[in-house]
Amino acid sequence: MRAIVVDKFGPIASHQIRDIPDPEPGEGQVLIDNHAVGLNYPDALMLQGKYQKRPDRPFVPGRDCAGIVRAVGPGVTRCSAGDRVVAQVFTGAFSDTVLAPQNRCFVLPDGVSFEDAAAMITTFNTAWAAVDSRGRVEAGHTVLITGAAGGVGIAAVQLCKARGSTVLAAVSTEEKGKLVLENGADAVIDTNAADLAALKTHLKDQVNKITGAAEGRGCDVVVDTVGGDLFEASLRILRYGGNLVVVGFAGGQVPAAKANYLLYNNLAVTGAPLDIRFEYAYAEVERGVNTWLGLLAAGKLRSNILSRYKLNEFATAFDEITGRRVMGKVVLDPQG
Ligand SMILES: NC(=O)c1ccc[n+]([C@@H]2O[C@H](COP(=O)([O-])OP(=O)(O)OC[C@H]3O[C@@H](n4cnc5c(N)ncnc54)[C@H](OP(=O)(O)O)[C@@H]3O)[C@@H](O)[C@H]2O)c1
Repeated sequence: MRAIVVDKFGPIASHQIRDIPDPEPGEGQVLIDNHAVGLNYPDALMLQGKYQKRPDRPFVPGRDCAGIVRAVGPGVTRCSAGDRVVAQVFTGAFSDTVLAPQNRCFVLPDGVSFEDAAAMITTFNTAWAAVDSRGRVEAGHTVLITGAAGGVGIAAVQLCKARGSTVLAAVSTEEKGKLVLENGADAVIDTNAADLAALKTHLKDQVNKITGAAEGRGCDVVVDTVGGDLFEASLRILRYGGNLVVVGFAGGQVPAAKANYLLYNNLAVTGAPLDIRFEYAYAEVERGVNTWLGLLAAGKLRSNILSRYKLNEFATAFDEITGRRVMGKVVLDPQG
């Protein structure tokens, strides 16, 4: 099989594509002929050794893929040879052949393409955890989403709209603003400000104008994918009883919440991790996958694939993500 191999952590472009032996599926494992790979921000961290977990080297990185089951190991009940599946693995997706644990594989409904499914699985599973399980977003809620034109952000925009909430999409450029509106956002919130104090005022002014400051409405939920100053400023636009859901730190700064501010304003800050949920909340993950795959098959969600590359163009593909230019999703063709 042909795969990107990380021999030692380093710059993304330092990693090589190599031919390595095909694996055999063991107990509970599924071997997949891979037809599409979705890229995510955490993949960029993983290749550089900056992700919170660092696998033993050498290893094949990559989380999201979709293709046809070539063979299954003993004890596999979730799929069989010939099935079209999407898989979200911890490592191993950046290859033309992927070995996945069966609980990470989901059979695709008819009409859903490999490309769309691979582009969506991590972002929609994460957005589901943030919007449904942890954010408990309901019809009638007003939700602010940061990094809203990014992979997880745009998934959260669509899932919030699908359940009837009002979505305020926070982005840094006009072009990203257009994309979030095309994906159903009700309003665009601009995040450009000189410093934290200016950002707090800028965000509050825009949100108050929409939600009505006089009634002290603010937002019911914030889904934050950026962290840093945006996290701090977003806390200030929550209403009484509001909930800020922490998804990630794409801005590179892990913020701290002042407990007294949470106490005095009756607020919650809630973590929405994805990987650990496969262990502790598998039924919720499965319900989420079935929900978004069903909405996708019914034409009610968009994958927002905005660029496509061959496997050997992975460094250029990642430049879009690390250079903050990405709008929606970047995919790789592992057979190309
Ligand atoms: N909780 C989980 O289990 C989980 C799962 C997947 C991802 N994540 C995390 O969620 C975050 C978003 O992931 P994603 O895949 O949606 O990322 P993405 O597609 O790259 O989007 C990230 C967005 O963050 C904003 N941003 C602000 N500062 C940035 C910077 N310095 N570099 C890059 N982007 C910056 C950008 O929007 P603007 O330009 O509009 O600000 C960008 O659109 C990441 O921190 C990722 O690690 C968490």
